[in-house]
Amino acid sequence: MAEPKDSFGRCVAKPKFIDRFYEIFLASSPEIKPRFAHTDFAKQKDLLQRGLTMMVMYDGGSETAKMTLDRIGESHSRRGGINIPPNLYRFWIESLIKTISEFDPKFSPEVESAWRHVIQKGVDYITAKY
Ligand code: HEM
Repeated sequence: MAEPKDSFGRCVAKPKFIDRFYEIFLASSPEIKPRFAHTDFAKQKDLLQRGLTMMVMYDGGSETAKMTLDRIGESHSRRGGINIPPNLYRFWIESLIKTISEFDPKFSPEVESAWRHVIQKGVDYITAKY
C-alpha cells in the first residue's frame, strides 16, 4: 500500500519542497496571498512542515498529533486570530498534491489517493472546529 509517510520522507528531504508549496499555494487563488501579507516565511515554513507531520501522525492514531490539530483548528477558527473559512482548504489540499507530484519521484495514483485520504481526514478535523 502507498504510504504518505514514505512519500513525505522523499519530499521533505528536499530543501525546496516547502518553498515550492508556498509558491503554488499563494498563487492558487486571489483569496490566499493577502492573508499572508505580514507573515514571516522563515518561521511559517517550519510550522507547515510540523503541521504536515502532525497530519500524518493523526492518521496513524497519535494523541499528541490530535492535540496539535485541536490547537491549529482553534487558531484557524472564527474565534482564533487567523479565521480561515473552510472553503479555502481546497486550495491548500490541491497545492500540496501538486507540490508532492513534482517532488516525489515515486508519485503515482496510489500515492496520490493515500495522501488525499490523510489530508482530508486532518482538514475535516481542523475545519470541524471553525
Ligand atoms: C490543514 C491545513 C493547514 C495546516 C496544517 C496549517 C497550519 C498552520 C500553522 C501550524 C500555523 C502557525 C500558527 C499556529 O500554529 O496556529 C498556521 C498559520 C497560518 N495559516 Fe495555516 N494551516 C492550514 C491551512 C491554512 C489555510 C487553508 C489557510 C488559508 C489561507 C491558512 C492560513 C494561515 C495564516 C494566514 C496563518 C498565519 C500566518 C502568520 O503568522 O502571519 N492556513 N497555519
